[in-house]
Amino acid sequence: MAKRVAVIGSGVSGLTSIKCCLDEGLQPTCFERSDDIGGLWRFREKVEEGRASIYQSVFTNSSKEMSCFSDFPMPEHFPNFLHNTRFLEYLKLYANRFDLLKYIRFKTTVTSVRKCQDFSTTGQWIVVTESDGKQESTMFDAVMVCMGHHIESFIPEQSFPGIEKFKGQYFHSREYKSPEEFQGKTVVVIGMGNSASDIAVDLCQIAKRVFISTRGGSWVMSRVYDDGYPWDTVFHTRFSNLIRSILPWPLLKLVYEQKMNQWFNHENYGLVPQNRALMKEPVFNDDLPSRILCGSVMVKPIVKEFTETAAIFEDGTMEENVDVVIFATGYSFSFPFLEQSVIKVENNEAPLYKQVFPPTLEKPTLAVIGLIQPLGPIMPNAELQARWATRVFKGLTELPSESAMMTDIVKRKEKRIKCQPRDDAMEGWALVQGKQGKWKARAPFLPSDVEAPWKTRKGGTDAETSTLPTGVFHSPVPAGEDVAAPEGSIAPPRESLPSEAPDGAPPAPVPSEAPVVLLSRFASVLQNQETRASNDRPSHILCGGMVVEPNVKEFTGTSAILEDGTVEEKVDIAIFTTGHHSSLTLLEETTTPGLTV
Ligand SMILES: Cc1cc2nc3c(=O)[nH]c(=O)nc-3n(C[C@H](O)[C@H](O)[C@H](O)COP(=O)(O)OP(=O)(O)OC[C@H]3O[C@@H](n4cnc5c(N)ncnc54)[C@H](O)[C@@H]3O)c2cc1C
Ligand SMILES: NC(=O)c1ccc[n+]([C@@H]2O[C@H](COP(=O)([O-])OP(=O)(O)OC[C@H]3O[C@@H](n4cnc5c(N)ncnc54)[C@H](OP(=O)(O)O)[C@@H]3O)[C@@H](O)[C@H]2O)c1
Repeated sequence: MAKRVAVIGSGVSGLTSIKCCLDEGLQPTCFERSDDIGGLWRFREKVEEGRASIYQSVFTNSSKEMSCFSDFPMPEHFPNFLHNTRFLEYLKLYANRFDLLKYIRFKTTVTSVRKCQDFSTTGQWIVVTESDGKQESTMFDAVMVCMGHHIESFIPEQSFPGIEKFKGQYFHSREYKSPEEFQGKTVVVIGMGNSASDIAVDLCQIAKRVFISTRGGSWVMSRVYDDGYPWDTVFHTRFSNLIRSILPWPLLKLVYEQKMNQWFNHENYGLVPQNRALMKEPVFNDDLPSRILCGSVMVKPIVKEFTETAAIFEDGTMEENVDVVIFATGYSFSFPFLEQSVIKVENNEAPLYKQVFPPTLEKPTLAVIGLIQPLGPIMPNAELQARWATRVFKGLTELPSESAMMTDIVKRKEKRIKCQPRDDAMEGWALVQGKQGKWKARAPFLPSDVEAPWKTRKGGTDAETSTLPTGVFHSPVPAGEDVAAPEGSIAPPRESLPSEAPDGAPPAPVPSEAPVVLLSRFASVLQNQETRASNDRPSHILCGGMVVEPNVKEFTGTSAILEDGTVEEKVDIAIFTTGHHSSLTLLEETTTPGLTV
């Protein structure tokens, strides 16, 4: 009989886990507490208990090229960085393509996962679920915990004396949805991570004053990197990863800092990370530096104390009449349904081998998927973890001894404290093949398949370029098509700049509720709600909020015919930014046929 596997959660990690179970001939049952798939990527106006919550303007900060599953590339016409609605659309395409929905039991919360009495021989678990007030216990041969780690708000109230006296509103970034309700207010955002920066930029267009208060600064990067490529397709090339893995730490730190300061000098903005020795996750925000220069976001040190109405900062300055404080201070996580003897979380760290397996279990039948914070996308890492875990469940791959796993865990912890709080990407093929030494696993691969590494030489780490025809990795299935790619084929080119629409398909459309802005020679840039977090032109283009088009040849009643013969249907507004001198004459002179002024 196929092994029954309980999968907890149907976000990115849960979906790929179901798929990997099926690939290995296992029998998955996925329990999802909410009523749909997508996890964090399913935006809702209201925060739901037990599920990650995002704000309306969230875009991926990892590109579509690097954030897809290895066997299911994103549709060609998707922009390079995706609005959350677009990423959810991708997950739905993935679930439909592989027929995953039938394995998911929605509105079913896992409340307890306990070892069976004969666990030391069977490795089995009793999973208790609750649905519609009814409890059910089921036995499973293995469990994949895919519940995400952005559910529990972390508000360090003890570090902010006086917050209990503060008469304004204060809440965690998890509660923040959109800026409208903050019109005319003075807001202090605490923290300098991606949430804090996005929210400050979001708010500054509508709030009276916005302060971002940071204890340690952050490196701020643009999504648009060298030569206009999405940052991660350049940062995570095989070559640069190889260099990073062999450079001594002090030199690597220098190179990293230099790269981080390439866009702007962080010292001039008061943003230099205090602990420069740590290779922290950068903030990806195309807008923040210009908002700071324009004074619409003001950088402040950490708040020393709150009064009923004011914030007093560490440098002695004080801001009166603060209406709102948003704590964008990150998350903590726990496994409420597991006993501490299985996984004991301390200081927001779970002692897991390669962030996946509890090392002390008599049988390796429980895996945590997606609890990884790489400097890059989580999706391919979660997929590799899931592939590895399912092979371990099946007995195709063995884990090292408990002591070897413990040593690895301690080493990782030391590295996090000493220099790199982010995780390394999964050492994909080594683990999936059951070989622990990176080089041992790679050595036979290199001479035997020259083509794959060559073609994907710019493509990233093991996790990010795992679509290799080594027999271990899957062949890609073209998104939205039913035909599997031929055995041994390689993923489509990972950079297409910007996304090119297939023949006849509309170019990089944005989700239907957002206006598309066409930038023809005579058109202007409008910021729409979705793209306001990224208002410079290259990032608008990579995020799909703006499409650059040739000049308009002719207008019809509702559409614009462009010089290259393409037609944009359903144009609502044409704005002429054709200069100011005798503008009417100019407009009349340049009026395109068909335009009624
Ligand atoms: C604002 C924001 C932006 C981000 N942007 C990026 C990005 O651009 N790129 C990137 O790689 N990563 C990004 N991340 C990280 C993000 O965590 C991953 O992209 C991804 O969503 C992780 O998926 P997951 O399936 O592990 O967790 P989730 O997406 O959180 O899904 C977990 C699922 O488990 C369910 N669940 C939880 N507990 C139970 C239970 N007891 N019983 C049943 N079901 C349960 C939840 O309802 C949920 O559906 C971002 C995170 C945040 C907060
Ligand atoms: N796709 C996107 O655009 C996007 C958007 C939002 C979030 N995300 C992702 O979601 C994850 C969570 O991001 P996040 O920004 O919510 O959290 P985060 O990255 O953990 O950042 C938390 C911030 O709060 C600060 N902080 C924590 N404790 C503090 C204290 N006691 N006093 C003062 N400051 C304190 C931290 O400062 P220190 O750095 O000094 O510790 C840090 O600046 C990240 O992986 C991020 O990449 C992605």
